[in-house]
Amino acid sequence: MCGIVGYVGNKNVTDVLVHGLKSLEYRGYDSAGIAIRNDEDIKIIKSVGKITNLEEKLKDFDKSYTMGIGHTRWATHGEVNEVNCHPHFTNNVVLVHNGIIENYRELKKELEVIGYSFLTNTDSEVIAALIDSYKGSKYDALVYAQMKMRGSYALVIMFDDEKNTLYAMRKDSPLIVGIGKNENFVASDISVILPYTKKYIDIEEGEVVKITKNDVLVYDEDGLVDKKVKTALWSLEDAKKGGFEHFMLKEMNEEKDLCTKLFNKFIEDENYSDDIPDISKYNNVDIVACGSAFYAANVGKYLIDSYVCDGSIHINVDVASEYRYKKHFYGDKSLVIVVSQSGETADTLACLRMANNLGVDTLAIVNVPSSTIAKEAKMVMPMLAGPEIAVATTKGYFSQVLELSLIAQKLGYIKGMISDEEKNLLIETFENLKSYLTPLFEIDYSKIANKLWSKEHIYFIGRGIDYIVGLEASLKLKEISYIHSDVYQAGELKHGPIALIDKSTPVISIITNDEIKEKSLSNAIEAQSRGASLYLLASENVDIDNLKIDEIIRVPRISEFYQPLLNIIPFQFIAYEVAKLKGCDVDKPKNLAKSVTVE
Ligand code: M6R
Repeated sequence: MCGIVGYVGNKNVTDVLVHGLKSLEYRGYDSAGIAIRNDEDIKIIKSVGKITNLEEKLKDFDKSYTMGIGHTRWATHGEVNEVNCHPHFTNNVVLVHNGIIENYRELKKELEVIGYSFLTNTDSEVIAALIDSYKGSKYDALVYAQMKMRGSYALVIMFDDEKNTLYAMRKDSPLIVGIGKNENFVASDISVILPYTKKYIDIEEGEVVKITKNDVLVYDEDGLVDKKVKTALWSLEDAKKGGFEHFMLKEMNEEKDLCTKLFNKFIEDENYSDDIPDISKYNNVDIVACGSAFYAANVGKYLIDSYVCDGSIHINVDVASEYRYKKHFYGDKSLVIVVSQSGETADTLACLRMANNLGVDTLAIVNVPSSTIAKEAKMVMPMLAGPEIAVATTKGYFSQVLELSLIAQKLGYIKGMISDEEKNLLIETFENLKSYLTPLFEIDYSKIANKLWSKEHIYFIGRGIDYIVGLEASLKLKEISYIHSDVYQAGELKHGPIALIDKSTPVISIITNDEIKEKSLSNAIEAQSRGASLYLLASENVDIDNLKIDEIIRVPRISEFYQPLLNIIPFQFIAYEVAKLKGCDVDKPKNLAKSVTVE
């Protein structure tokens, strides 16, 4: 995820910017750059890869520059190279940008008509031209840009004809102003300013901030705003976690905003955008992945097979470490989809390379834009989840499931299996997804965790899509709490696994699938009558009558295309709370690595 730092004061700005960019490194990035100015000119220096590469270029640099902006880029538009790396400039405007401008293609066309040309493939360069194109005051130019842009942005801007002044504004992307003594800062993350000052102000949407070394002036449509200066009480480490106790908790909380981000990216004019891959021309699609990404792939297959398949497409899902050693007979209508958060998982990468070598079309659903998988796949659907630091994936899985659901929906719509009316309803549900999710983030899961943390074995049961969500729920629990856990298709329980049920063995039954809810409930009762303690995750319409249930979590019932996204949230929280109670290292579980780059 991109990071921003800006400085105006008396210090050597390159030192401040490089230091700031380094404290943003934990967010992940693929390239970095700065723009600095002194009385004479503005200089832009960029480099691909680590910040040390940028530092190398700045080694013998003139130390007289005392104002500038810096950026770590996490590519979303255009490949990873120096040209696409920020800062971007157009005539009088130099800027750095975090976020995504949804209507940048449209704006670009309008600007081309009036004579602007573009060096990069980015949406950010379009903003620079947009601001530059306005003939009027700088404030009006920035308000004009706010009105024209659709999407999210945190922007720090310098104008060639105005020395010693930075401008900043934001929408749906964080940005704060750090208040120092004869110096001021602007940053996407509080960790940047902490070595210099603890005082900061928040920037609200619609505001335009003018920053000099002695003043920070914030304007909105009514004029000058009286802003409250806050004091950051966090340590540097806390700041990186955004005040959350663990990265995992922070990342789970980011799932709500991720819905909005993905909605803005993939829905355009109330329709599925071109950014959602159209897989309707293929008749054989293999989805390949490892771990949680494999479980997300299973959700995708289930949705396609159950709701949008007209018989003309066959979806196969496989674990990458198995798939790479199998024989494959691809035709000209075959597609291999690889799903990977890190984009570096060795087995998944090997499958991608194998498919590429055999000339098959490949598509990667991948989070890290600079990763090998993102670079080598023929088509890419970016997950846009931002850096995931906790080893146990949460928002990564969430994004994978949502993107596979969108691919399924678009396929169904193109094939006529989803009508216009159904499509409209699906898009409406997507738009409201955050409001369905929010109550699930407000439940106190510690009560259930207290009952579970001391257990040796915990079993999940479910049918259909509920079983598939159970796979991820069980993995989450075992990988961070080290409790042995397994998941069974509820109907299979009595064919063997029921022998494992002793008095008080926790069985967590997931029941949100309408068609088979009665059957699922019967299976849960079977387990209970063998002594199991019964826990339910059930949609509101599942009637539990007078059953004695240890704990029940109710989830809203929504379209099956989104239901798995709701169902997984409580299990991520339960795993987290159980791991905490057991004193486990939540973010770095034993024996596990974030990115498995060996076979
Ligand atoms: O980076 P990837 O998505 O390719 O990683 C795949 C698995 O290694 C990963 O999902 C793993 O299972 C996680 N520890 C799950 O939390």
